[in-house]
Parts: sequence; structure tokens; C-alpha cells
Amino acid sequence: MNNKYFAEPFKIKMVEPITILTREERLAKIKEANYNLFSLKSEDVYIDLLSDSGTGAMSTNQWAGMMNGDEAYSGSKNYFNLISSAQDIFGYEYIQPVHQGRAAEKVVMPILLGPGKFAISNMHFDTTRAHVELTGARAIDCIVPEALDTKTYAPFKGNMDVLRLVELIEELGKENVGVIIMTITNNSAGGQPVSMENIKNTAEIANKYNIPLMIDAARFAENAFFIKEREEGYKDKSIKEIAREMFSHAHLFTMSAKKDAIINMGGLIGVKNDKELFEVIKGRTIPLEGFISYGGLSGRDLEAMAIGLQEGIDYNYLKYRIGQMEYMAGKLDIADIPYQSPVGGHAVFVNAGEFLPHIPYYEFPGQALAVELYIEAGIRGCDIGSYMMGNDPDTGKQIKSQFEFTRLAIPRRVYTQSHLDVIIEALIAIKNRVNTIPGYKINWEPKILRHFTSRLIPVDK
Ligand code: F0G
Repeated sequence: MNNKYFAEPFKIKMVEPITILTREERLAKIKEANYNLFSLKSEDVYIDLLSDSGTGAMSTNQWAGMMNGDEAYSGSKNYFNLISSAQDIFGYEYIQPVHQGRAAEKVVMPILLGPGKFAISNMHFDTTRAHVELTGARAIDCIVPEALDTKTYAPFKGNMDVLRLVELIEELGKENVGVIIMTITNNSAGGQPVSMENIKNTAEIANKYNIPLMIDAARFAENAFFIKEREEGYKDKSIKEIAREMFSHAHLFTMSAKKDAIINMGGLIGVKNDKELFEVIKGRTIPLEGFISYGGLSGRDLEAMAIGLQEGIDYNYLKYRIGQMEYMAGKLDIADIPYQSPVGGHAVFVNAGEFLPHIPYYEFPGQALAVELYIEAGIRGCDIGSYMMGNDPDTGKQIKSQFEFTRLAIPRRVYTQSHLDVIIEALIAIKNRVNTIPGYKINWEPKILRHFTSRLIPVDK
């Protein structure tokens, strides 16, 4: 429990007004949006916790860097600044910018996977799973059992279950496992960190079976912060030293730079030293994303990323950021509202399955709570549970997720302590009328990534 707020290590120079609708207006808006929070207009949202991706506030230095955008088709100076900044942090020889994380996945996955192949991860993010499946391969999650127990403290609930990983490789045949993916932090398990020891052990297994280990690096800096705080031997190391060590164990990485590089658009692919693989990646980047020295981004975006990567590993910034989650967790403890504990790096994952025990997984408790938070206070979160998981691609049946979370993702450097208090007050108000909250059923859904566009209606009781 932590009620001490580590104040923002920045001051505010520019403000963006936000609107507050009435409850009646919000009820009408959410109905119009078919109870899908992605279909709301952002101007109808008061506190937007839909994602921490691309929603951060850039610094004065980043905006100044944008003015130095060199928009040459090839060889822009911002490209070289970005490569140096990324090489400095990750210690990798080869770096390729792309326009976001899933673009990196689109470039890389078909090189490693195809029909009959498997990707094994501590947990696939939804777009990562989609890109695995689009190649014809299958995605298997292999998370440690303690992640499933949302109540008991464990310092690294994002870890790979390494014993199970070995069993899976033996069962499937090592030639059929195209890639092992380590997602740091582990978003879908609650933004939970992965320990250095677990990265090292996973790398040893990957090496033994000659399978490439890829890091999904979206929140690598937050992961490094947790290692510094929680793992023996790291408290005196800098975030950069820890990051370098984490990446030294892997073969390559994909990264959505919209999170820990604190930019609104951008991504990276990194390859440690496999020149041949990097040539293939470059060859695919040109038709899919654009020439290698811009990779789907403007020169100014490359510059903002070069600067943001360094700002994202600043210790005081990370202390404030993780402190926001800890502040909310402390308040939830007092209110006895269940969440994935200890709290993760980029979001509070409320355990909606437990908060709304009268709603079964196939009526989507995580989605039900997200809708209710919008109705209650104009707060937009999202489901990370059975609604997001969708249907089994082979049987077409609804998957029962290991978790039913409502994720409240906190944009970087955007909201103040008072906003966090509004979120807690809204959850407490909902707690006091929990039995009145309905489950939801789907009226229409697309085949893949359904949570973005499907249409829902409340279930009548
Ligand atoms: N990997 C992880 C772990 C992610 O969390 C995301 C995006 C991606 C890959 C894809 O990156 O959006 O730049 O294409 N996560 C966002 C989220 C969307 O809200 O958690 P992208």
C-alpha cells in the first residue's frame, strides 16, 4: 500500500481542455456506440484510459526536436540520431524504424513463422497473436501460475513458465517452434514485470533448442525499473545498464515505441548481430513500411523517438510513473476493490471477474465494468479478458480467458493526482451498486481482433 504520491518531475506548459458530459448524455453516447468503448468519440470522454499507447505528452525537448525534422526521402539526419540513441540503449547493431509495434510484427512474423509452426510467449499481446495467426501459425501463452492468483504478491508475475516451455517444445518438436517471445512488461497479465533471471533462463532454453528469442519491448523501461527495485543485484545499476543486459539475452526485438519512448507514433525492430536476418527484415520493410531510413515515419517523428527513448529511461520519470499506479493501488486496497496485485507498470488491472461475480465470462465482466465506468464518470478503460480473447480460430468457440480484467491504462505525463482520485471515486460508487450492472452479449463481430469493432447489447436479467 502506498499513499505517498511522488509528484510529477515536470511542470505544465500547455493544456488541452476536456469536456464533462452529464450522465444522461453519457448513457446516450455509449448506447449509440453499441457499448463498444472504441466506438466512442474521444471528445465525449473525460478521462481516457483506453490505452497508454501513443497517448503520452511529449516534452519541450521532443517538440524542439520535431522542428529539426529532416524530411529527405533517404538518409535523413534524424534517422542517424535515432539509430545512435537506440544502439546506446539496447546495445544492438541493427535497428530498423517502423511506424508502430504491429508493423514490426507484420515485417518479422512471416520470416519466423508459417502454417504448422508455433510461437510460444509468456503472453502474446492481441496484435502479436493476430500476426502469428495471420502467418498460419498458432500462438501459445506460457505464463507462470502465480500470475493467475491476482491476490498473492509475487515480484515478477510476468515471467515465462520455463518448465512448461521445455515441455511444450518437446511436445511440439523444436523444429515447429519458430520463435519464443518475451513480452516485457507482460501487458495482458496486468503490466507485470519479467525478472532478469527469467529472461536469462528462457534464453538458455531458446539457445539449447536453437529457437530465436524475441523480446516484445513495448514497455522495456518500466520492466527495467521493476528489476532495479525488486531483483537482487540490480539496485545500484542504471536503467540503461539493466536494459542492455535484458536485451543481451535475446536475438531480436520488436517494439511499439508509442509506450516507453513517449511518442504518439513509431516502432522499432532490433537485431543483435544476425546480419543475414537483418537483410531480410530490411527487404520486407521497404515494400511494407517505406524506405529503411524512414520506415513509415516522418523525419520529425524519428527525432522525437530518438529523444523520447532517452527520456523514457530517466529514473525519476519512472519513479513518478510507477508511483501513479502504486498510489491508485493503495486507494483500491482501502476500498477493498480487487485488482492484479502488485500493480503493474502502465495500468491498473481491476479484477472484474471478482468485482462482478454475477457476470459469467461469456457475458464479459471486464467489458461490463468498462462500460459502467464510462456511464459513472466518463472514464474510458477497456476489457482485457474473454471479450478481447475472441473465438478459437480452429473451433470458432468463445475462449475462456485466464483473466477477466478491466484495464485502466495511464497515459504518460498526461493526468494529475486529482484525475487519479476521480477514477478511484468512480470505482467506489460502482462498488456500491454492483448487483445492478448487466453482462453483455455480442450482436455482431468480425473474425479477428473483434474487440475493436464488435457491437454489443446488455443482457436482460
Ligand atoms: N506489443 C505489446 C506488448 C503491446 O502492448 C502493443 C500495443 C503492441 C505490441 C502493438 O503495438 O499498438 O504500436 O501497434 N498495445 C497497445 C495497448 C495498443 O493499448 O496495450 P502498436
